[in-house]
Amino acid sequence: MTRVSALPLLALGSLALASQDAFKSKCAKFADQINIPNVKVNFAEFVQGGTNLSLSDNPTSCGAFSQVVSVDLCRVAMAVSTSNSSEITLEAWFPEEYKGRFLSTGNGGISGCIQYYDLAYTAQLGFATVGANNGHNGTSGKPFYQHPEVVEDYAYRSVHTGVVVGKKLTKQFYDKGFDKSYYLGCSTGGRQGFKSVQKFPNDFDGVVAGAPAINLINLFSWSAHFYPITGSPGSETFLTTAEWQIVHDEIIRQCDSIDGAKDGIIEDPDLCRPILETLTCTSHASNKTSCLTSTQVNTANQVLAPFYGINGTLLYPRMQPGSEMLAASLMYDGSPFPYSEDWYRYVVYENPSWSGKNFTVKDAAVALAQNPYNLQTWEGDLSPFQKSGGKVLHYHGLQDQLISSEDSKWYYSHVSQTMQLPPSKLDEFYRFFQISGMGHCGGGDGAYGIGQGLRTYDGTNPEDNVLMAMVQWVEKGIAPETVRGAKFANGPGSKVEYKRKHCRWPRRNVFKGPGNYTDENAWQCI
Ligand SMILES: *[C@@H]1O[C@H](CO)[C@@H](O)[C@H](O)[C@H]1NC(C)=O
Ligand SMILES: *[C@@H]1O[C@H](CO)[C@@H](O)[C@H](O)[C@H]1NC(C)=O
Ligand SMILES: *[C@@H]1O[C@H](CO)[C@@H](O)[C@H](O)[C@H]1NC(C)=O
Ligand SMILES: *[C@@H]1O[C@H](CO)[C@@H](O)[C@H](O)[C@H]1NC(C)=O
Ligand SMILES: *[C@@H]1O[C@H](CO)[C@@H](O)[C@H](O)[C@H]1NC(C)=O
Ligand SMILES: *[C@@H]1O[C@H](CO)[C@@H](O)[C@H](O)[C@H]1NC(C)=O
Ligand SMILES: *[C@@H]1O[C@H](CO)[C@@H](O)[C@H](O)[C@H]1NC(C)=O
Repeated sequence: MTRVSALPLLALGSLALASQDAFKSKCAKFADQINIPNVKVNFAEFVQGGTNLSLSDNPTSCGAFSQVVSVDLCRVAMAVSTSNSSEITLEAWFPEEYKGRFLSTGNGGISGCIQYYDLAYTAQLGFATVGANNGHNGTSGKPFYQHPEVVEDYAYRSVHTGVVVGKKLTKQFYDKGFDKSYYLGCSTGGRQGFKSVQKFPNDFDGVVAGAPAINLINLFSWSAHFYPITGSPGSETFLTTAEWQIVHDEIIRQCDSIDGAKDGIIEDPDLCRPILETLTCTSHASNKTSCLTSTQVNTANQVLAPFYGINGTLLYPRMQPGSEMLAASLMYDGSPFPYSEDWYRYVVYENPSWSGKNFTVKDAAVALAQNPYNLQTWEGDLSPFQKSGGKVLHYHGLQDQLISSEDSKWYYSHVSQTMQLPPSKLDEFYRFFQISGMGHCGGGDGAYGIGQGLRTYDGTNPEDNVLMAMVQWVEKGIAPETVRGAKFANGPGSKVEYKRKHCRWPRRNVFKGPGNYTDENAWQCI
């Protein structure tokens, strides 16, 4: 290379360094410039792209001790009081390569854990991003005990407070402020997204809500009702993981080909109504490792049935068939589901020794009657959000082992009926995508990489990335017709084996051929 062509490169390099220095010093000074009521700044620090950030303050039970940060950013850590006896821990990450967009992340389970991987992911995409701890620290429900302010933070106030404070900080940190505001979350994070849509219609222009834990009180009860059905390991009613494999194989045998492709993945669970009596061992069966007792068949049928309350009303729809193997070691493992047990112990009965082993539908009625701070998150009228111009992209994995995707379909029809809008009209601001082969927010047997997180990601093309699809919808008015997922060969982020375009509800995916199911163009949404 000649000197002449090297010179502009050098000049560019030093310019970049000078701008990094300016950014660093702006970050260092920022902490002292923040003066927002109820906000106490712990620190503001520059984080260089490529840093493996140590998270020594993060509660141990959150299980995240470090986070790799790929871009230069200014990290601001704060405590924000939400009442005179509660507070959230809030972080705001301001990337140097800023694209003029604000975003809030969400949480998971009943956790008080900042999702650092979501902060890292969205900062990397150029968003000024915030994440809060949901009003308490760690994964236990104990902080709710006789502390309604903490429950209120969990129900809606943590995210909303983070948004109010985060937007102020973003305007102060960047001269140009922000143009549009976004939300990205899954599970409890999906519920928090819908809570914003329902209760704070002006917080976001675009909300991406995955596998939402809406209908949450009933979700706690549904998760609690599996133990009384399965009993403990060893009891007659119980199925081991190997026995659930027998059930799963039979469901796949009966339902896999309905969509036209034998790929081990069910595209439309609505068409799958498995008959499990086929699995009952006959008295003269020589091989008892491929059949079940009639008691066990009864267990499987009950586990896969809708969940009704004391007076026969539907509380929670059925677990969608196809998720058996992901659910076996979690929901059907013969012990009370921990989040549900915590909710009943610390909130419903305020009795720390209450045992999930004693759960009945009577408890479900008690819990639902309480519904503190409208935690249910089941409002069907989204017209304030619609009128404000907001857009929501809702997705749900069809192998979700923790939150049945059937609940998402139920909510969609609830909104449709409440607002008197058919899908063609809802499509103008609310689109729902079923993601076949996706477990709870990720994982599963199929094309679950849709850009919902740091590792379940195959590029920033809006066709492949739900967050960038939302940006395109909000900023260019181009709404997503399909959501394309990547099937990873060996876990999240590994080599992409194939892609599949997932359909917008109420359409379903059908294999038309010709060729292989791995060909995305051999499928059609009908
Ligand atoms: C980051 O640091 C943690 C703890 O020091 C370590 O366990 C982890 O492997 C590191 N990650 C990377 C990608 O280097
Ligand atoms: C704490 O907040 C509650 C509710 O906002 C209020 O009624 C009460 O007076 C406050 N207590 C103190 C000590 O400020
Ligand atoms: C959560 O942990 C942080 C960091 O250790 C601490 O500053 C904060 O007070 C804790 N919050 C609550 C509600 O206990
Ligand atoms: C029993 O069935 C299982 C599962 O189909 C099979 O793996 C095993 O080899 C069979 N055992 C005998 C003795 O046939
Ligand atoms: C649960 O039920 C058992 C009997 O089935 C009873 O002995 C026990 O006291 C109950 N526990 C609680 C916490 O209610
Ligand atoms: C039935 O139970 C549900 C949930 O507990 C309740 O909302 C509803 O009002 C009840 N209906 C009747 C007719 O009692
Ligand atoms: C389709 O591709 C998969 C994966 O490459 C392969 O295992 C399978 O045999 C192919 N099926 C057909 C019908 O070609």
